[in-house]
Amino acid sequence: MMKIIVLGSAAGGGYPQWNCNCRNCDGLRRGAIRSRARTQSSIAISANGSDWLLVNASPDILAQIRATPALQPARAARDSGIAAVLLMDAQVDHTTGLMMLREGRPIPLYCSAPVWQDLQGGYPLAKVLGHYCGVQWRELAVARGEPCSFAVPQLEGIRFTAVPLDSKAPPYSPHREQPQPGDNIGLLAHDLLTGKKLFYAPGLGAVAPLTAAAMREADCLLVDGTFWTEDEMMAQGFSGKPAAAMGHLPQSGAGGMMEVLDGLPASRKILIHINNTNPILDEDSPQHAIMRGRGIELAYDGMEILL
Ligand code: MLT
Ligand code: MN
Ligand code: ZN
Repeated sequence: MMKIIVLGSAAGGGYPQWNCNCRNCDGLRRGAIRSRARTQSSIAISANGSDWLLVNASPDILAQIRATPALQPARAARDSGIAAVLLMDAQVDHTTGLMMLREGRPIPLYCSAPVWQDLQGGYPLAKVLGHYCGVQWRELAVARGEPCSFAVPQLEGIRFTAVPLDSKAPPYSPHREQPQPGDNIGLLAHDLLTGKKLFYAPGLGAVAPLTAAAMREADCLLVDGTFWTEDEMMAQGFSGKPAAAMGHLPQSGAGGMMEVLDGLPASRKILIHINNTNPILDEDSPQHAIMRGRGIELAYDGMEILL
């Protein structure tokens, strides 16, 4: 059986965000709304409960590890349950935590070639880590725009598939304006014993045919819940950018994530990577009620999924 732990369920900035006084961040701090704090986006997947694939390395990783005893099996004087790390993209909120793993052994790092390039140049974490623990790149070969299947040695019985998808490379990426297949991926994890499949995609700008096919296969969907509306950041006066410019498909509206999820057979549909401005974070909001009414769940830190 495959076990998934949500280590962090917020988008970049976390919730509440340190400098933000939007309705949610301020309301949560003052205890004025029913809502939970969330750290930045990351999940862990295991087949045996002691060896884990860390999917995204959040800036909040140390707090996430402390909050998750399963990630420290204590088999030796220096130990970690994190067997390998996989990156969905090269964004700050998904990679910065790698720096906090520098005291350990060389990190087996699964990512695409464009992400690996960003980690050498635009945001050279892999180079810096070369002076500490070192990083062993395991290429997710999606450069031709095709999915790529692979196994992670310590996760016996799980077959993984990286699916290139439409989102955005980070602002510091040399190819920010020339999208490459593999700037962002979705991850399909297939438990060969139970036959169950998870599809994880915290950054998903548009549902292209390959993505739609992977989503149709999944029993459990853990997908981009960043924004409720396309103009959410602009309407609240925080950014001049619509959701699409940041590579995120909003939940509401025609062609939005809720509509996409409506048409899919998965028994669990869960939103993750929630931005702190998103009204669904307030559990008493009409938007939260609409989401629940459509059979959609909201990921929270510490959420466990068994498949
Ligand atoms: C994003 O996915 O757009 C990020 O959360 C942005 C960020 O990390 O600042
Ligand atoms: Mn993000
Ligand atoms: Zn906020």
